[in-house]
Amino acid sequence: MKLGTPLTASATKVMLLGSGELGKEVIIALQRFGVEVIAVDRYPNAPGHQVAHRAYTIDMTDAELLKALVASEKPHFIVPEIEALNTDALADIENSGTATVIPTVRAVQLTMNREGIRRLAAEELKLPVSPYAFARSEAELQAAIDGGIGYPCFIKPTMSSSGKGQSRITQASEVKAAWDYAATGGRVNQGVVIVEGQIDFDYEITLLTVRAKNAQGETQTYFCEPIGHVQKNGDYVESWQPQAMTANALKASQHIAKTITDSLGGFGLFGVELFVKNDHVWFSEVSPRPHDTGMVTMCSQRLSEFELHARAILGLPVDVTMTQTGASAVIYGGVDSQNLSYEGLEAALSVPNSDIRLFGKPESFARRRMGVALATGKDSDEARNRAKLAASLVKPAER
Ligand SMILES: Nc1ncnc2c1ncn2[C@@H]1O[C@H](COP(=O)(O)OP(=O)(O)OP(=O)(O)O)[C@@H](O)[C@H]1O
Ligand SMILES: [Mg+2]
Repeated sequence: MKLGTPLTASATKVMLLGSGELGKEVIIALQRFGVEVIAVDRYPNAPGHQVAHRAYTIDMTDAELLKALVASEKPHFIVPEIEALNTDALADIENSGTATVIPTVRAVQLTMNREGIRRLAAEELKLPVSPYAFARSEAELQAAIDGGIGYPCFIKPTMSSSGKGQSRITQASEVKAAWDYAATGGRVNQGVVIVEGQIDFDYEITLLTVRAKNAQGETQTYFCEPIGHVQKNGDYVESWQPQAMTANALKASQHIAKTITDSLGGFGLFGVELFVKNDHVWFSEVSPRPHDTGMVTMCSQRLSEFELHARAILGLPVDVTMTQTGASAVIYGGVDSQNLSYEGLEAALSVPNSDIRLFGKPESFARRRMGVALATGKDSDEARNRAKLAASLVKPAER
């Protein structure tokens, strides 16, 4: 692998499609290798826009706009950070051989739709998953629940993330509201929902899995230490690494992660979401890119998930060593504002072994993730308590 000099004819160019807080960290990691980075998002001054060589604001679901931008910028690698993309345009770009889509167009297509990835995992690869069915109407949804899924169950739009349009219901009287919420809460393809039986797990993890070239130039799969997390309303609020697991559960988790990422192919880091009960592991979903719960790796690993992604994309060797037990806790905006300030950083950063990332998002909502607190500790309890304390001490407000 050869790397060029940015802003010259030799530059190695990477285009990020989606430039939020996760993209921002990938961009910083790429910048450190002297890569020329082009950040694209749907709104101006997105976090990644602020640290890239060039920034564009376009509707990335528009095929013509996306193709025109790629044609003018000529990136070597296209790195999707979000799911709401025109994947037909990406397929055309990949087929024309001008740029490599990370990890592959097929992976991006399959994972943006719960139906695609669920059928691949369960029906083709025979991985253990929750009971599930797809429904195109309220009547179909009710029939699927009565036909075996039962209660409690989760109802989700097939095209959504971060818990949008998702509900957990426990009785028949809630089906209509769940249908209405899911049918209107999705991105596109409105009206198709997945219903999943609830898995009664002990804990859930993200297994960060990297497909990268080793020093011999062969493709190898690497696993980070498992990350435990807490979700509220489908959105992550806290994560830690490592999550203690039985040897059998860890083995089963790595097997599932290897199977699904082998099938998706390409190079890069994946976030494999798994549910665990004793030695039993169920596949939930997978992101073909860094995962929000993986922000903890900025304090717990020698190379963060973002640095691992950057290296894998560029064809460079990776090192998934965890150096310390760590935790992350989300900082929410708390208010709707376009002029937010943050106070309390002195107190937050006085928490032992803590750190804070503020994403610099231009607009805040009460439940928008605006930053994250990180902390290490002698065990996950200490790290979690420190991260939560540091997060709680940061006071965003419009002033
Ligand atoms: N079948 C299930 N059984 C038990 N818990 C579930 C099930 N489906 C979802 N959950 C819970 O809801 C959370 C969010 O679900 P899921 O990951 O499918 O949604 P999402 O919108 O893709 O979220 P994100 O984008 O944040 O990963 C899970 O992490 C888990 O805590
Ligand atoms: Mg999820």
